Amino acid sequence: MDEILQYLERHRESFEEDLCALLRIPSVSADSRHRGDMRQAADWVYGQFTSMGLKAEIVETAGHPIVYAESPPVAGAPTVLVYGHYDVQPPDPLDEWVSPPFEPTKRDGNIYARGATDDKGQMLTHVKSAQAVLATTGKLPVQLKYIIEGEEEVGSENIESFLDDRREQLACDVIVISDTSQFGPGRPAITYGLRGIAYFELRLTGPKQDLHSGTFGGAVTNPLNTLAKMLAALVDGAGRIQIPGFYDDVVELTDTERAQFAVLSFSEQSFMRQIGVEGVSGESGFSTLERRWARPTCDVHGFWGGYSGEGAKTVLPCRAGAKFSFRLVPNQDPVKIGRSLEQMMRALCPPGIKLELIDLHGAPGVLVPLDNPYMSAAASAVERGFGTTPVFIREGGSIPIVNAFKAKLGADTLLLGWGLDDDNTHSPNEKFCLADFHRGIKASAALWDELGKLNA
Ligand code: BES
Ligand code: ZN
Repeated sequence: MDEILQYLERHRESFEEDLCALLRIPSVSADSRHRGDMRQAADWVYGQFTSMGLKAEIVETAGHPIVYAESPPVAGAPTVLVYGHYDVQPPDPLDEWVSPPFEPTKRDGNIYARGATDDKGQMLTHVKSAQAVLATTGKLPVQLKYIIEGEEEVGSENIESFLDDRREQLACDVIVISDTSQFGPGRPAITYGLRGIAYFELRLTGPKQDLHSGTFGGAVTNPLNTLAKMLAALVDGAGRIQIPGFYDDVVELTDTERAQFAVLSFSEQSFMRQIGVEGVSGESGFSTLERRWARPTCDVHGFWGGYSGEGAKTVLPCRAGAKFSFRLVPNQDPVKIGRSLEQMMRALCPPGIKLELIDLHGAPGVLVPLDNPYMSAAASAVERGFGTTPVFIREGGSIPIVNAFKAKLGADTLLLGWGLDDDNTHSPNEKFCLADFHRGIKASAALWDELGKLNA
């Protein structure tokens, strides 16, 4: 192991340069203008694997390509599947970035760029650790299989058929993903729960064209007024979602879990300071951590219609729309929720308005078992990388593929997050702490070692 650690020390700079090279590629999966960049990012990841001597392949899908790589089988040791994503969220609003999103810049020990933490930097830790082990010892203590996809940020819709097609090739004992966060600086965490998601676009259409609100207002249903009413009807004053049956399948927090959350030293004050608000609200009866990690939500992401230019325009707009989603918790079913939502929306839709509800994507929530040797190996590895034992947390974001891995490959996932809650993921000035990048690589190298001690 000493040799591997020395290799990691000697290659700190080259690892950072490689990360910057990947961060310079604007691989925005949601935006079709970036198709070429998506391909370039996939090629770059593929190049990493082949230069390490791994068997690698770029797999075409109906959407963006998947990069697959594997090392040789190791008799008697487990097979570990690493998942990550090379796609990133759109960088807007561009003028709020201190340095441009695709020009990675080092400031105060962090690297700033879209995708720095989510997920290029975190994903790369598991590539660089293997590079170090292979370069120093010539072989890995476990068989590694990598799936690095390009559609995580848009719902991972095409990866399921890849899992179906390759069930045998992808057979593994455990899955490793680094696409989550530590509990705080210097407080590494293993995440055992994620929320799911159900994401929709609502389109309302009224008269055949925009109208004068004086001539027609009051007699013709306004799609924007209707949109506002429909969105407002989704959540009541106590933060409870009003879709019929929405809470039917919710697995409630146990008293033990609530007590475990309560002893984590979470400061509501510093949380509010971090995001720049003077108060918080949510579903009544639950703490902030409970609301973020283990309760369902509804958030509107954007809406449109009518006039929002300079000055006043008395228009009765002919159409309106919105994008919104629900974060889900185990065992809520996104499909069932979509059906009930559609019924509710149709019942609220007044005469003179046509409604279209588009289901953009969905994924159920996740809870992974804590009591198994893989989890203990992961805890030891995190301790070896970060110098302190990890805490076990849940998180509020979603990684759609985790349930599919369980259902199709029968394996549980180790969610080992090297990020921080203030990394500005999905927002301007995304960053990743470079010390955590290197600690992550060290923890990852230790993970292959710890997992290699387990019998398959
Ligand atoms: N890295 C995040 C998932 C995440 C976020 C985990 C915060 C834990 C805390 C991931 O890349 C992501 O953003 N996923 C999307 C999935 C969605 C588009 C289906 C998300 O959660 O919005
Ligand atoms: Zn991510």
